[in-house]
Amino acid sequence: MAKLALKGGRPVREKPFPSWPVYGEEELEALKEVLESGVWGVGGNKKAEFEKRFAEYHRVKYGVAVTNGTAALEISLRAAGIPAGSSVIMPAYTFMATATAAIYANLVPKFVDIDPDTYTIDPSAVEAAITEDVKAIIPVHIAGCPADMEKINSIAEKYNLVVVEDACQAWGAEWNGRKVGSYGDLAAFSFQSSKNITSGEGGIILTDNRKLYETAWSYSNCGRSMEGAWYEHFIPGTNCRITEFQAAILLAQLSRLPEQSEIREDRARYLTSLLSKIDGVTPLKRPEKATKHAYHLYIFKYSSEAFGGLSREKFREALVAEGIPCSLGYTPLYRAPAFQNLKRIPFIPKSISEKMDYSEVSLPNTERACYKEALWFTQRMLLGSREDMEDIVAAIEKIKENVDELL
Ligand SMILES: Cc1ncc(COP(=O)(O)O)c(C=O)c1O
Repeated sequence: MAKLALKGGRPVREKPFPSWPVYGEEELEALKEVLESGVWGVGGNKKAEFEKRFAEYHRVKYGVAVTNGTAALEISLRAAGIPAGSSVIMPAYTFMATATAAIYANLVPKFVDIDPDTYTIDPSAVEAAITEDVKAIIPVHIAGCPADMEKINSIAEKYNLVVVEDACQAWGAEWNGRKVGSYGDLAAFSFQSSKNITSGEGGIILTDNRKLYETAWSYSNCGRSMEGAWYEHFIPGTNCRITEFQAAILLAQLSRLPEQSEIREDRARYLTSLLSKIDGVTPLKRPEKATKHAYHLYIFKYSSEAFGGLSREKFREALVAEGIPCSLGYTPLYRAPAFQNLKRIPFIPKSISEKMDYSEVSLPNTERACYKEALWFTQRMLLGSREDMEDIVAAIEKIKENVDELL
């Protein structure tokens, strides 16, 4: 009789992992307060309070809360004043919005490879890709693991480049004792529903620079200025303010973050210690200087050879059948249909879309991660108990022992 759940055997685990989002009285009270105040948007104080608290938590001076992480990236790039048609260096192992935000800011994504051990942008690849037209870098703190911000910043300084951190997965993460979001000229965070702090949708821009703060505020507020009258507009802005309901929920969620982050860190370390003993599964390396990791995702590398040639896709199916949710993650951004023919997109000026030909791009570490190695667990699983982590390990060991059933 088959042992593996995929073949009809009994799964290792039948109970679910913790559900997400986590909420309680705090969120209910906060929502009720806004509802009953009658001030649901402009004129309330929750948005400003959240901006202040979130910025303080990251030891940054200013925050501008916006509708989502994509808007936070777009507005950051616009506020930085990067001339249209300039290139922006970024990894291709990230969510689509990192690149589309650049396109929406009339900029040209230039993809470089990731470090094979951490999957964050490789600083030496960044430096090698610098040409006259490059004006900015977007390091992505993928999975919540900070990119090497000291190296990125020193490259940026040397070549006079803007740095916009994509911290959409990295609330509270730290590089060398300093919070992400405090390294770049600007940083973007997301509060979309899967994120470690969420209001369903939402985002924030952080910066230490007063001028960039005022410009980002203005771009996200229809081009108004902080001191100007309501119907005075100084630049062609857009409207991506969040509501008071979102800000109220985010305040409550932010107060949950430190404790939840500690749990995720503990479970991730424990899981890493156990998985490291299994030949063929290699947790991503956590750099020594990643003094806090946000663990939006827990990523490990799978080796098909160590599992008798079992494909990563089949392994994932077997793991899911054992009661362990798991996904394959990204494909390289430059291979996405969205990037195949940008000349067709009417709103992108021809002079800019002509520079966006990705047909020859091929980044080996990114492709290995996307097509061969990477497997993801989500942050909510890390909110489970240490025993829950042991179930993950038991399921992987079980698949390994009975791999013949699948070959
Ligand atoms: C790395 C990264 N960048 C940008 C975004 C965009 O954020 P949002 O979904 O809030 O627009 C996300 C969210 O999924 C992300 O993970």
